[in-house]
Amino acid sequence: MPTVRILGIETSCDENSAAVLYCQKGRVQLLSNIVASSASTQAKYGGVVPEQAAREQLKSIIPVITEALNESGIIKDEIDAIAVTYGPGLIGSLLVGVETAKVLALVWNKKLIAVNHLLGHLYANWIEGSQKQTVSVPKFPIIGLLVSGGHTDIIEMTPHGKYKYLGGTRDDAAGECFDKCARLLNLSYPGGPQISKLAQNGDPSVFDLPKPMLDSGNLDLSFSGLKTAVANLIKVNPQLLLEGNPNRAHLAASIEQTIAGVLVKKLEMAVDSSRAKQVMVAGGVAANQKLAQLVRETFQDKIVFIPRADLCTDNAAMIASAGYFNPVYVDPLKFDADPSLSLAY
Ligand code: KG4
Ligand code: ZN
Repeated sequence: MPTVRILGIETSCDENSAAVLYCQKGRVQLLSNIVASSASTQAKYGGVVPEQAAREQLKSIIPVITEALNESGIIKDEIDAIAVTYGPGLIGSLLVGVETAKVLALVWNKKLIAVNHLLGHLYANWIEGSQKQTVSVPKFPIIGLLVSGGHTDIIEMTPHGKYKYLGGTRDDAAGECFDKCARLLNLSYPGGPQISKLAQNGDPSVFDLPKPMLDSGNLDLSFSGLKTAVANLIKVNPQLLLEGNPNRAHLAASIEQTIAGVLVKKLEMAVDSSRAKQVMVAGGVAANQKLAQLVRETFQDKIVFIPRADLCTDNAAMIASAGYFNPVYVDPLKFDADPSLSLAY
Protein backbone atom coordinates (compact mmCIF):
# COMPACT_ATOMS: atom_id res chain seq x y z
CA MET A 1 0.00 0.00 0.00
CA PRO A 2 1.50 3.39 -0.96
CA THR A 3 2.10 6.19 1.52
CA VAL A 4 -0.78 8.64 1.33
CA ARG A 5 -2.09 11.67 3.17
CA ILE A 6 -5.86 11.71 3.15
CA LEU A 7 -8.23 14.56 3.96
CA GLY A 8 -11.47 13.15 5.36
CA ILE A 9 -14.78 15.01 5.33
CA GLU A 10 -17.88 13.95 7.31
CA THR A 11 -21.18 15.84 7.38
CA SER A 12 -23.88 13.16 7.46
CA CYS A 13 -25.88 14.46 10.43
CA ASP A 14 -25.23 17.22 12.98
CA GLU A 15 -21.46 16.82 13.22
CA ASN A 16 -19.24 18.66 10.77
CA SER A 17 -15.79 17.18 10.71
CA ALA A 18 -12.54 17.21 8.76
CA ALA A 19 -9.43 15.15 9.48
CA VAL A 20 -6.00 14.47 8.03
CA LEU A 21 -4.46 11.00 8.20
CA TYR A 22 -0.97 9.85 7.31
CA CYS A 23 -1.22 6.30 6.01
CA GLN A 24 1.73 4.06 5.38
CA LYS A 25 1.99 0.27 4.94
CA GLY A 26 -1.44 -0.40 6.42
CA ARG A 27 -0.83 1.92 9.38
CA VAL A 28 -3.08 4.88 9.93
CA GLN A 29 -1.78 7.83 11.89
CA LEU A 30 -4.09 10.62 12.99
CA LEU A 31 -2.65 14.08 12.32
CA SER A 32 -5.81 16.08 13.02
CA ASN A 33 -9.52 15.49 13.60
CA ILE A 34 -11.68 18.58 13.99
CA VAL A 35 -15.34 18.12 14.94
CA ALA A 36 -17.86 20.95 15.09
CA SER A 37 -21.26 19.87 16.31
CA SER A 38 -24.64 21.56 16.26
CA ALA A 39 -25.85 19.06 18.90
CA SER A 40 -26.31 21.81 21.50
CA THR A 41 -28.58 23.70 19.09
CA GLN A 42 -30.40 20.48 18.21
CA ALA A 43 -30.77 19.71 21.94
CA LYS A 44 -33.28 22.56 22.26
CA TYR A 45 -35.58 20.64 19.92
CA GLY A 46 -35.01 17.19 21.47
CA GLY A 47 -33.44 15.87 18.27
CA VAL A 48 -31.91 16.83 14.96
CA VAL A 49 -33.85 19.29 12.79
CA PRO A 50 -32.54 18.41 9.30
CA GLU A 51 -32.87 21.86 7.72
CA GLN A 52 -31.13 23.49 10.63
CA ALA A 53 -28.36 20.87 10.76
CA ALA A 54 -27.60 21.53 7.08
CA ARG A 55 -27.47 25.31 7.63
CA GLU A 56 -25.00 24.81 10.48
CA GLN A 57 -22.93 22.49 8.27
CA LEU A 58 -22.72 25.19 5.60
CA LYS A 59 -21.46 27.74 8.11
CA SER A 60 -18.68 25.57 9.50
CA ILE A 61 -17.43 23.36 6.66
CA ILE A 62 -14.69 25.67 5.34
CA PRO A 63 -13.38 26.75 8.78
CA VAL A 64 -13.35 23.11 9.91
CA ILE A 65 -11.38 21.93 6.86
CA THR A 66 -8.97 24.86 7.23
CA GLU A 67 -8.40 24.04 10.90
CA ALA A 68 -7.86 20.33 10.16
CA LEU A 69 -5.20 21.18 7.58
CA ASN A 70 -3.53 23.74 9.86
CA GLU A 71 -3.44 21.39 12.81
CA SER A 72 -2.07 18.50 10.76
CA GLY A 73 0.96 20.46 9.61
CA ILE A 74 0.21 19.26 6.07
CA ILE A 75 -0.41 21.73 3.28
CA LYS A 76 -3.07 21.14 0.65
CA ASP A 77 -0.47 20.30 -2.01
CA GLU A 78 0.68 17.34 0.08
CA ILE A 79 -2.80 15.80 0.27
CA ASP A 80 -3.10 12.77 -2.02
CA ALA A 81 -6.83 12.11 -1.80
CA ILE A 82 -10.06 13.39 -0.30
CA ALA A 83 -12.40 10.85 1.32
CA VAL A 84 -15.97 11.94 1.91
CA THR A 85 -19.10 10.42 3.42
CA TYR A 86 -21.73 10.11 0.68
CA GLY A 87 -24.39 8.31 2.74
CA PRO A 88 -26.40 7.34 4.66
CA GLY A 89 -27.59 10.45 6.44
CA LEU A 90 -29.63 13.61 6.10
CA ILE A 91 -29.59 14.72 2.48
CA GLY A 92 -29.06 18.44 3.21
CA SER A 93 -26.15 17.69 5.54
CA LEU A 94 -24.60 15.10 3.22
CA LEU A 95 -24.71 17.50 0.27
CA VAL A 96 -22.61 20.07 2.14
CA GLY A 97 -19.73 17.59 2.53
CA VAL A 98 -20.12 15.91 -0.85
CA GLU A 99 -20.31 19.15 -2.85
CA THR A 100 -17.40 20.67 -0.94
CA ALA A 101 -15.29 17.54 -1.53
CA LYS A 102 -16.17 17.54 -5.24
CA VAL A 103 -15.14 21.16 -5.65
CA LEU A 104 -11.90 20.69 -3.72
CA ALA A 105 -11.06 17.54 -5.69
CA LEU A 106 -11.54 19.41 -8.96
CA VAL A 107 -9.82 22.65 -8.01
CA TRP A 108 -6.93 21.04 -6.12
CA ASN A 109 -6.71 18.16 -8.60
CA LYS A 110 -7.03 15.38 -6.00
CA LYS A 111 -8.44 11.88 -6.12
CA LEU A 112 -11.89 11.60 -4.59
CA ILE A 113 -12.93 8.57 -2.52
CA ALA A 114 -16.58 7.79 -1.70
CA VAL A 115 -17.12 6.37 1.80
CA ASN A 116 -20.16 4.68 3.30
CA HIS A 117 -20.57 6.33 6.72
CA LEU A 118 -21.43 2.99 8.36
CA LEU A 119 -18.27 1.31 7.12
CA GLY A 120 -16.47 4.46 8.25
CA HIS A 121 -17.56 3.87 11.86
CA LEU A 122 -16.00 0.41 11.82
CA TYR A 123 -12.72 1.79 10.45
CA ALA A 124 -12.26 4.00 13.50
CA ASN A 125 -10.85 0.76 14.95
CA TRP A 126 -7.91 0.87 12.51
CA ILE A 127 -6.68 4.31 13.60
CA GLU A 128 -3.51 4.17 15.68
CA GLY A 129 -4.20 5.19 19.25
CA SER A 130 -7.93 4.59 18.91
CA GLN A 131 -7.81 1.65 21.30
CA LYS A 132 -7.45 1.93 25.04
CA GLN A 133 -6.31 -1.61 25.62
CA THR A 134 -4.91 -3.02 22.38
CA VAL A 135 -2.07 -1.82 20.22
CA SER A 136 -2.55 -4.04 17.17
CA VAL A 137 -4.99 -3.50 14.31
CA PRO A 138 -8.01 -5.74 13.64
CA LYS A 139 -7.41 -9.00 11.78
CA PHE A 140 -9.86 -10.86 9.57
CA PRO A 141 -12.26 -12.58 9.89
CA ILE A 142 -13.80 -10.25 12.43
CA ILE A 143 -17.37 -9.73 13.64
CA GLY A 144 -18.44 -6.10 13.87
CA LEU A 145 -21.32 -4.53 15.75
CA LEU A 146 -22.23 -1.10 14.48
CA VAL A 147 -24.44 0.84 16.88
CA SER A 148 -25.30 4.43 16.06
CA GLY A 149 -28.22 6.83 16.14
CA GLY A 150 -29.66 5.47 12.92
CA HIS A 151 -28.25 1.96 12.59
CA THR A 152 -27.75 -1.27 14.47
CA ASP A 153 -26.01 -3.83 12.27
CA ILE A 154 -23.98 -6.98 12.82
CA ILE A 155 -21.56 -7.88 10.05
CA GLU A 156 -18.73 -10.28 9.35
CA MET A 157 -15.74 -8.74 7.63
CA THR A 158 -13.34 -10.98 5.75
CA PRO A 159 -10.82 -8.89 3.78
CA HIS A 160 -11.05 -5.10 3.57
CA GLY A 161 -14.14 -3.98 1.71
CA LYS A 162 -15.76 -7.42 1.90
CA TYR A 163 -18.40 -7.91 4.48
CA LYS A 164 -21.47 -10.01 5.05
CA TYR A 165 -24.52 -8.51 6.69
CA LEU A 166 -25.62 -10.93 9.43
CA GLY A 167 -28.48 -9.09 11.09
CA GLY A 168 -29.70 -5.86 12.55
CA THR A 169 -32.60 -3.96 13.95
CA ARG A 170 -36.02 -4.28 12.41
CA ASP A 171 -37.18 -0.94 13.76
CA ASP A 172 -35.42 1.60 16.01
CA ALA A 173 -31.63 1.71 16.21
CA ALA A 174 -29.94 1.31 19.61
CA GLY A 175 -28.95 5.00 19.68
CA GLU A 176 -32.42 6.02 18.63
CA CYS A 177 -33.82 4.01 21.53
CA PHE A 178 -31.47 5.79 23.95
CA ASP A 179 -32.48 9.14 22.43
CA LYS A 180 -36.23 8.42 22.54
CA CYS A 181 -36.13 7.08 26.11
CA ALA A 182 -34.12 10.15 27.15
CA ARG A 183 -36.72 12.41 25.61
CA LEU A 184 -39.49 10.57 27.47
CA LEU A 185 -37.53 11.23 30.67
CA ASN A 186 -37.11 14.93 29.77
CA LEU A 187 -33.37 14.49 29.24
CA SER A 188 -31.63 16.40 26.49
CA TYR A 189 -30.32 15.25 23.09
CA PRO A 190 -28.18 13.22 22.45
CA GLY A 191 -29.83 10.92 24.93
CA GLY A 192 -27.27 8.11 25.26
CA PRO A 193 -24.77 9.99 27.42
CA GLN A 194 -27.61 11.48 29.52
CA ILE A 195 -29.18 8.10 30.26
CA SER A 196 -25.74 6.76 31.07
CA LYS A 197 -25.03 9.58 33.52
CA LEU A 198 -28.38 9.15 35.27
CA ALA A 199 -27.88 5.37 35.36
CA GLN A 200 -24.71 5.69 37.44
CA ASN A 201 -26.75 5.90 40.64
CA GLY A 202 -29.37 3.39 39.57
CA ASP A 203 -30.06 -0.28 40.12
CA PRO A 204 -30.88 -2.00 36.81
CA SER A 205 -32.85 -4.78 38.50
CA VAL A 206 -35.62 -2.51 39.84
CA PHE A 207 -37.43 -2.30 36.48
CA ASP A 208 -37.81 -5.34 34.28
CA LEU A 209 -37.99 -4.03 30.72
CA PRO A 210 -38.87 -6.15 27.68
CA LYS A 211 -36.09 -7.60 25.53
CA PRO A 212 -37.84 -8.11 22.20
CA MET A 213 -36.38 -10.74 19.86
CA LEU A 214 -33.81 -11.83 22.45
CA ASP A 215 -34.75 -15.44 21.86
CA SER A 216 -35.71 -15.11 18.19
CA GLY A 217 -32.97 -17.55 17.22
CA ASN A 218 -31.61 -15.17 14.58
CA LEU A 219 -29.52 -12.01 14.64
CA ASP A 220 -32.41 -9.60 14.24
CA LEU A 221 -33.05 -7.02 16.90
CA SER A 222 -35.93 -4.72 17.85
CA PHE A 223 -35.92 -1.72 20.15
CA SER A 224 -39.23 0.03 19.57
CA GLY A 225 -41.01 -2.12 22.21
CA LEU A 226 -38.51 -1.02 24.83
CA LYS A 227 -39.26 2.64 24.16
CA THR A 228 -43.02 1.93 24.34
CA ALA A 229 -42.58 0.11 27.65
CA VAL A 230 -40.72 3.14 29.05
CA ALA A 231 -43.49 5.46 27.78
CA ASN A 232 -46.12 3.29 29.47
CA LEU A 233 -44.22 3.19 32.75
CA ILE A 234 -44.01 6.99 32.79
CA LYS A 235 -47.72 7.29 31.94
CA VAL A 236 -48.70 5.09 34.86
CA ASN A 237 -46.10 6.62 37.17
CA PRO A 238 -45.62 10.33 36.29
CA GLN A 239 -43.42 10.79 39.39
CA LEU A 240 -40.70 9.26 37.22
CA LEU A 241 -40.41 12.70 35.68
CA LEU A 242 -39.58 14.33 39.01
CA GLU A 243 -35.91 15.11 39.27
CA GLY A 244 -34.35 13.49 42.32
CA ASN A 245 -36.78 10.57 42.30
CA PRO A 246 -34.41 7.58 42.74
CA ASN A 247 -36.61 5.51 40.44
CA ARG A 248 -35.50 7.72 37.54
CA ALA A 249 -31.94 6.49 38.00
CA HIS A 250 -33.17 2.89 38.37
CA LEU A 251 -35.13 3.20 35.13
CA ALA A 252 -32.16 4.74 33.29
CA ALA A 253 -29.93 1.91 34.56
CA SER A 254 -32.45 -0.63 33.37
CA ILE A 255 -32.70 0.98 29.90
CA GLU A 256 -28.92 0.97 29.56
CA GLN A 257 -28.54 -2.58 30.86
CA THR A 258 -31.35 -3.89 28.63
CA ILE A 259 -29.97 -2.32 25.44
CA ALA A 260 -26.41 -3.44 26.19
CA GLY A 261 -27.58 -6.93 27.20
CA VAL A 262 -29.57 -7.54 24.02
CA LEU A 263 -26.76 -6.21 21.81
CA VAL A 264 -24.13 -8.39 23.44
CA LYS A 265 -26.33 -11.51 23.35
CA LYS A 266 -26.79 -11.12 19.58
CA LEU A 267 -23.12 -10.32 19.09
CA GLU A 268 -22.25 -13.49 20.99
CA MET A 269 -24.54 -15.54 18.74
CA ALA A 270 -22.85 -14.05 15.67
CA VAL A 271 -19.36 -14.76 17.01
CA ASP A 272 -20.25 -18.31 18.07
CA SER A 273 -21.44 -19.19 14.59
CA SER A 274 -18.35 -17.80 12.88
CA ARG A 275 -14.61 -18.51 12.73
CA ALA A 276 -13.81 -15.01 13.96
CA LYS A 277 -11.33 -14.64 16.79
CA GLN A 278 -11.78 -10.90 16.96
CA VAL A 279 -14.74 -8.65 17.72
CA MET A 280 -15.20 -4.96 17.09
CA VAL A 281 -17.83 -2.45 18.15
CA ALA A 282 -18.27 0.98 16.58
CA GLY A 283 -20.69 3.92 16.28
CA GLY A 284 -21.86 6.49 18.81
CA VAL A 285 -23.34 3.91 21.18
CA ALA A 286 -19.95 2.16 21.36
CA ALA A 287 -18.95 5.09 23.60
CA ASN A 288 -21.27 3.59 26.23
CA GLN A 289 -19.14 2.26 29.10
CA LYS A 290 -21.69 -0.33 30.21
CA LEU A 291 -21.77 -1.81 26.71
CA ALA A 292 -17.97 -1.78 26.47
CA GLN A 293 -17.66 -3.49 29.86
CA LEU A 294 -20.18 -6.18 28.93
CA VAL A 295 -18.49 -6.82 25.57
CA ARG A 296 -15.07 -7.20 27.22
CA GLU A 297 -16.47 -9.51 29.93
CA THR A 298 -18.28 -11.67 27.37
CA PHE A 299 -15.40 -12.02 24.92
CA GLN A 300 -12.51 -12.60 27.28
CA ASP A 301 -11.06 -15.22 24.94
CA LYS A 302 -11.21 -12.91 21.91
CA ILE A 303 -9.43 -9.72 20.91
CA VAL A 304 -11.90 -6.86 21.28
CA PHE A 305 -11.69 -3.51 19.47
CA ILE A 306 -13.73 -0.52 20.63
CA PRO A 307 -12.53 2.96 19.62
CA ARG A 308 -11.94 5.64 22.22
CA ALA A 309 -15.08 7.77 22.74
CA ASP A 310 -14.24 10.67 20.40
CA LEU A 311 -13.72 8.20 17.55
CA CYS A 312 -17.01 6.38 18.28
CA THR A 313 -19.24 9.38 17.56
CA ASP A 314 -19.27 10.95 14.10
CA ASN A 315 -15.85 12.16 12.94
CA ALA A 316 -13.91 12.51 9.70
CA ALA A 317 -10.87 10.49 10.82
CA MET A 318 -12.87 7.26 10.55
CA ILE A 319 -13.99 8.27 7.04
CA ALA A 320 -10.42 8.90 5.91
CA SER A 321 -9.38 5.56 7.46
CA ALA A 322 -12.14 3.69 5.58
CA GLY A 323 -11.11 5.54 2.42
CA TYR A 324 -7.50 4.41 2.79
CA PHE A 325 -8.38 0.73 3.13
CA ASN A 326 -11.25 0.83 0.58
CA PRO A 327 -10.25 3.35 -2.08
CA VAL A 328 -13.41 3.60 -4.14
CA TYR A 329 -12.36 6.41 -6.50
CA VAL A 330 -15.19 8.43 -8.02
CA ASP A 331 -15.44 11.09 -10.71
CA PRO A 332 -16.30 14.43 -9.04
CA LEU A 333 -18.45 15.33 -12.04
CA LYS A 334 -20.60 12.21 -11.78
CA PHE A 335 -20.81 11.65 -8.05
CA ASP A 336 -23.82 12.19 -5.76
CA ALA A 337 -24.86 11.73 -2.14
CA ASP A 338 -26.99 8.68 -1.35
CA PRO A 339 -29.01 9.29 1.84
CA SER A 340 -30.38 5.74 2.05
CA LEU A 341 -27.13 3.81 1.68
CA SER A 342 -26.92 0.82 4.06
CA LEU A 343 -24.72 -2.14 4.99
CA ALA A 344 -27.51 -4.63 4.30
CA TYR A 345 -27.73 -5.92 0.76
O1 KG4 B 1 -22.55 7.46 15.40
P1 KG4 B 1 -23.22 8.67 15.91
O2 KG4 B 1 -22.38 9.79 16.46
O3 KG4 B 1 -24.14 9.30 14.83
C1 KG4 B 1 -24.88 8.52 13.93
O4 KG4 B 1 -24.30 8.10 12.92
O5 KG4 B 1 -26.05 8.26 14.27
O6 KG4 B 1 -24.22 8.14 17.03
C2 KG4 B 1 -25.05 8.99 17.74
C3 KG4 B 1 -25.81 8.15 18.73
C4 KG4 B 1 -26.90 8.93 19.46
O7 KG4 B 1 -28.09 8.18 19.42
C5 KG4 B 1 -26.35 9.03 20.87
O8 KG4 B 1 -27.37 9.07 21.86
C6 KG4 B 1 -25.53 7.77 20.98
O9 KG4 B 1 -24.92 7.63 19.71
N1 KG4 B 1 -24.50 7.86 22.02
C7 KG4 B 1 -24.49 7.10 23.13
C8 KG4 B 1 -23.38 7.52 23.91
N2 KG4 B 1 -22.74 8.51 23.21
C9 KG4 B 1 -23.44 8.71 22.06
N3 KG4 B 1 -25.33 6.12 23.53
C10 KG4 B 1 -25.08 5.54 24.71
N4 KG4 B 1 -24.06 5.89 25.52
C11 KG4 B 1 -23.18 6.86 25.16
N5 KG4 B 1 -22.17 7.20 25.96
ZN1 ZN C 1 -22.51 7.93 12.63
